[in-house]
Amino acid sequence: MTNQREQYTMGYGQAATSIMSMRTAQNHAAFFLPYLKPGMKMLDCGCGPGTITVGFGEAVAPGEVVGTEIEEAHVAIAQENALKQNASNVRFESADLYSLPFEDASFDAVFISAVLANLKEPIRGVREAFRVLKSGGVIGVKDFDHGGDLIYPADPAIEKYGELYVRMRLDNGHDPNSGRKIGALLIEAGFSELKFSAVYETFTGPRAAAFAQFSVGLLTESWGNEFTSRSWATKEDIQEMINAYRETVTKVINQFRAARLLEIDRSFITLVNPRGLEELAQG
Ligand SMILES: C[S@@+](CC[C@H](N)C(=O)[O-])C[C@H]1O[C@@H](n2cnc3c(N)ncnc32)[C@H](O)[C@@H]1O
Repeated sequence: MTNQREQYTMGYGQAATSIMSMRTAQNHAAFFLPYLKPGMKMLDCGCGPGTITVGFGEAVAPGEVVGTEIEEAHVAIAQENALKQNASNVRFESADLYSLPFEDASFDAVFISAVLANLKEPIRGVREAFRVLKSGGVIGVKDFDHGGDLIYPADPAIEKYGELYVRMRLDNGHDPNSGRKIGALLIEAGFSELKFSAVYETFTGPRAAAFAQFSVGLLTESWGNEFTSRSWATKEDIQEMINAYRETVTKVINQFRAARLLEIDRSFITLVNPRGLEELAQG
């Protein structure tokens, strides 16, 4: 089956790449690390800039990790990140999760983070993961669920930004509430022995400032145009969103100690699915 590449809502601009690069195996895959063992062969699908993948390299050494990514530019960034960290057992290649270039039952562990929400047919991606995973292998899946986003206090321009972001995901054919559906997808693909958890990634203080700067970057480099070209906002509306976020950055930095001016929490549903979970957990 040939795949027409789908629109990726976040885009590949600098702002999107920097926020993704803040992720590590420790801060984004802690739920999955206990199931990784030395010597495992592991796959990280849709690995982005590869900062999480590199951490998996440490967890499975002397085993190996392959990070796959549909975007060639991110493969190059991920390779650079691995080089900087001397992660010699981690390699990256370009691949579409809908059709992975691996034999059946090639991996002991598969990880998919924040990718399924970018697919029109997430079940096809999960079935591919099932195909390349060995029987008794373990899969860790994590995704956003924007139905759980919280923000307070809410500036109207920032609220509008949030609404348009969700609308854009829907317009691109993707589900903004995909996190809650991961379990159902995995069961449909044939996985069993699911363990669920949900976490909030909280942005307060300097992280809120970084998030605000990231939002300004996204609006400037791509989303401003996306929103106006779809006639959902005027240029003035976009400027108001930018101003609201810029103001937030200043307030948060100036009042760093009591930095509760803006809290943006984003919910994830995380799920670990081990076939043979008990043996793995017992080592
Ligand atoms: C939000 S980023 C997540 C990156 C990383 N997994 C993380 O959690 O930080 C989503 C990534 O999935 C990639 N992606 C989207 N569709 C894909 C597909 N069909 N196959 C492989 N990767 C895909 C995008 O290029 C992007 O780098």
